[in-house]
Amino acid sequence: MTIAVITIDGPSASGKGTVAALVAAKLGFAYLDSGALYRLTALYAQRCGTSWSDEAGVAALARTLPAEFRDGGVYLAGEAVDDAIRAEEIGMGASAIAALPLVREALLERQRAYRVAPGLVTDGRDMGSVVFPDASLKVFLTADAQVRADRRYKQLISKEDSANLPRILQDITERDARDAARSVAPLRQEPDARLLDTSEMTVDLAVAAVLGWFEQSV
Ligand code: CDP
Ligand code: CDP
Repeated sequence: MTIAVITIDGPSASGKGTVAALVAAKLGFAYLDSGALYRLTALYAQRCGTSWSDEAGVAALARTLPAEFRDGGVYLAGEAVDDAIRAEEIGMGASAIAALPLVREALLERQRAYRVAPGLVTDGRDMGSVVFPDASLKVFLTADAQVRADRRYKQLISKEDSANLPRILQDITERDARDAARSVAPLRQEPDARLLDTSEMTVDLAVAAVLGWFEQSV
């Protein structure tokens, strides 16, 4: 029997991670935040002094990335880096290295290894299109850019006083454009993905929608 996978792809700050983690908890499935792997790789490269444009260098780091997800936290070489990887600068770095084919290839098998019984919920940009094309349910989760910028601002302002709404809107718009325009694994709604626009939807309703679709699919 194949192990169930629910993929939730979509643009920045749409609520993918929040919804995916809650759906996983409800079903007792594992959860993989694939964006965290790209963010960790960008942070690791920065710390190793490897330029984000050095494709072979960053891919080599991605292959041996000393990253762990445990106790609800993200660790790089044993150090808790939850806040460090969430900085918008690292989001930009993640988007830059994510356009490099060798880096995507280096992270591919690592992502597939998270598919364990009884199932997996995962979010990112290409989880339904490339990493798990045979997923049980594929969701494309989105929201208006202004709504997404407001959500990211509220997340960041609780950690850094310098969070600036116009800059966040500009950054996520730029990152979405780059993620959608790249030639490898671009961000887009696949024909077999269900569209979930959460611009005017609470987290609870979004979770209920995904669970409802999943029930129909099994
Ligand atoms: O993973 P992604 O970048 O798509 O977004 P996230 O980090 O899960 O969500 C960004 C923020 O939006 C979180 O603080 C969520 O609680 C919030 N959110 C919301 O307010 N309403 C929704 N329907 C979905 C998310
Ligand atoms: O939290 P947010 O939605 O802003 O971003 P993220 O999911 O943490 O991803 C950071 C960056 O990694 C994205 O802008 C993408 O360029 C890249 N990424 C990707 O290319 N493929 C994935 N499956 C996940 C993330």
